Amino acid sequence: MSQSPPRPFHAHRSGPLAGVIRVPGDKSISHRALMLGALATGVTRITGLLEAEDVLNTARVIELLGARVARREGVFEVAGRGVGGLTRPSGPLDFGNSGTGCRLTMGVIAGHDVEARLVGDASLSRRPMRRVLTPLRQMGLGVAEDRETLPLTIRGTSSLVPIEYATPVPSAQVKSAILFAGLGASGETTVIEREPTRDHTERMLRYFGAEVKTAERDGRNAVTVTGDAELEGKPVAVPGDPSSAAFLAAAAAIVPGSEVTIAGVLVNETRTGFYTTLKEMGADVTFANPREENGEPIADIRVRHRPLTGVVVPAGRAPSMIDEYPVLSAVAAFASGETRMEGLAELKVKESDRLAATAAGLAAQGGLAKVDGDTLIVAGNTTARGGGTVVTHMDHRIAMAFLILGLGADRPVAVDDITFVATSFPAFTALMGTVGARLEAR
Ligand code: S3P
Repeated sequence: MSQSPPRPFHAHRSGPLAGVIRVPGDKSISHRALMLGALATGVTRITGLLEAEDVLNTARVIELLGARVARREGVFEVAGRGVGGLTRPSGPLDFGNSGTGCRLTMGVIAGHDVEARLVGDASLSRRPMRRVLTPLRQMGLGVAEDRETLPLTIRGTSSLVPIEYATPVPSAQVKSAILFAGLGASGETTVIEREPTRDHTERMLRYFGAEVKTAERDGRNAVTVTGDAELEGKPVAVPGDPSSAAFLAAAAAIVPGSEVTIAGVLVNETRTGFYTTLKEMGADVTFANPREENGEPIADIRVRHRPLTGVVVPAGRAPSMIDEYPVLSAVAAFASGETRMEGLAELKVKESDRLAATAAGLAAQGGLAKVDGDTLIVAGNTTARGGGTVVTHMDHRIAMAFLILGLGADRPVAVDDITFVATSFPAFTALMGTVGARLEAR
């Protein structure tokens, strides 16, 4: 994908947006369903799997590790190998652009006597892996290179030792990799996190039959998995991705007169910080028709435009909206007053340095944005005039966030390349079109 020529795109000021739509399946849950399907015995049937590059790469990776994956009438069927049953891949495991695919798979491989070469695209090859490799090494994983970044060759072992590990960074990827590895260790493996991060791994592990305990320890979140686990294949219905829905919600919040409903979205509270913030800014946001599917809460999210006001987004909220800061910044450009987003250190190590890319993108539209340490400050109201081109740095969310900003700006907003939108939301431009957004190729 990184080899193809860039695809520039434009967003034009649009009239009121309206409609009831669905967004594709949640990316985090899709990766985990495939991986747990591979680690379970029997067949895991997944409906609503996100069919986007990141997740399809994970499907190919688990096939290379010995699971069987078939797609029948839109349902993915994974025939698993059981914990400890994965086999040596015949070639390198290519994760493309996906940090989640790569880091979680490191944990999956750790408990197997398997050597694998892990590779990815230029963006992924710049991202830090030590945060995952340090705890996995303590458990017994071998790493050939003394390096922080891909490509890397790792060697798992069937005699993994359980650990107790306090994560220095708030990261569900690190937590999940350790828990996946813990399935194959004998004894209890515990991850302690200062702030709770998304808990899909814990929920899905329980659903597949593993023993997982959560407890509060000195104000921190401790998650323990019991090793030598046996998982059983289960049906998984993947709910709509709240991080993808955020683009539609943001568009409705920005464009006067809009009302958009996104049906069947995951509303797990470890993921809904963006919607809380949007409400605080004054948008009319409701979660209707709440229900639960395979251990995850779901609702229909309705967003109606209202005048917006700048807010302070506290650092403690960052894990629950970590992927939504670029699009929140786009919304903040249309609020009266300043929006301060605090505690954003982790944004620097995403698919791009999102703190820098967001500030630069706003500046290119005549907006005022300032980075002060780990805080991003966006001056609101009429500061985003549009008319500029945004550099997306192989980052899907930067591309989508600024196209959303363009729907409310005075002049068209250009992004230099929307190729990477295919990693998480291939139907983005088409879906936005159905609610009335004016997006077009340049
Ligand atoms: C994810 C966790 C987050 C998030 C990523 C998906 C996951 O990353 O940014 O898009 O599925 O566990 P970190 O855990 O590194 O914060």
